[in-house]
Amino acid sequence: MSVIENSKLAVIGAGSVGASLAYAALIRGSARRVALYDINEAKVDAETLDLAHGTQFTGSSEVEGGSDLAVVEGAHVVVVTAGANQRPGQTRMDLAGTNARILEGLMPQLLERAPDAVYMLVTNPCDVLTVVARRVSGLPAERVFASGTVLDTSRLRTLLARRAGVATSSVHAHIVGEHGDTEFPLWSSATIGSVPLLDWAQGRPVGRDELDRIATEVREAAYKVIAGKGVTNYAIGLSGARIVEAVLRDERAILPVSTVLGDYRDIGDVALSVPSVVGASGAVPIAETPFSVDEDARLHASADAIRGSLAQLGY
Ligand code: LAC
Repeated sequence: MSVIENSKLAVIGAGSVGASLAYAALIRGSARRVALYDINEAKVDAETLDLAHGTQFTGSSEVEGGSDLAVVEGAHVVVVTAGANQRPGQTRMDLAGTNARILEGLMPQLLERAPDAVYMLVTNPCDVLTVVARRVSGLPAERVFASGTVLDTSRLRTLLARRAGVATSSVHAHIVGEHGDTEFPLWSSATIGSVPLLDWAQGRPVGRDELDRIATEVREAAYKVIAGKGVTNYAIGLSGARIVEAVLRDERAILPVSTVLGDYRDIGDVALSVPSVVGASGAVPIAETPFSVDEDARLHASADAIRGSLAQLGY
């Protein structure tokens, strides 16, 4: 994939997620320059060196890094992965207090160095932290969003494609809402190719209960991976790099990222993932996305979960 000249991605946090996202961005050629920042100098220097040693094989991207925020200077996209990760058994919401405090300190420093960048939150709980980042930065809603359920949607499409015996690219379905325990699939608008999923399922031994089991498997995926290896990093790294490309290439790709929805379905000052147009200006939710009555109710239930966490943080 051709690298957009002079495009710069800054990844904040050189932990497993940040380093994997930087690695994915180099391999995919998401940006001309990839910068990695972490407060831990030894860690970020080692990750940067290790990434740099492979750039002969990754096309024309360059990688830089360090524990001085100067590495963020002039970035067009800043991805925040810094903060505590879920431990086995922990929910993403359990991280809200710790990671909100980190973000409150970080955002003003990042804006100083990259005032015109598009900001993407990956740190969890990413929906809650998107509201915090937007309030602290004062940026317009479209310029500060979260990776949200892009990863969950990838998990859903992978499972549906395997069950349907078709290419993942031919499955058009979204997980929406919180990137977390209240997320849910938009079955009513999902299709396999041009066939509505629910019609496709009716004609096969795939009942609604099997589809719902698939959705549960998606919702529980991170817990399963974390129980086995302590973190999730590869798929979120790839998801993040994909979203970065849509911004840097001004693709206007439709991705379920999480933005503060405002009057979108009367959700209010809460960030949730819905299908959005992602391009150089950031992310704009698609107001015409159809929701069934049940799906609309589930979106509001997801909003209530985020609102509850924000209230506990004093937002
Ligand atoms: C996951 C993390 C990124 O879903 O929340 O894998």
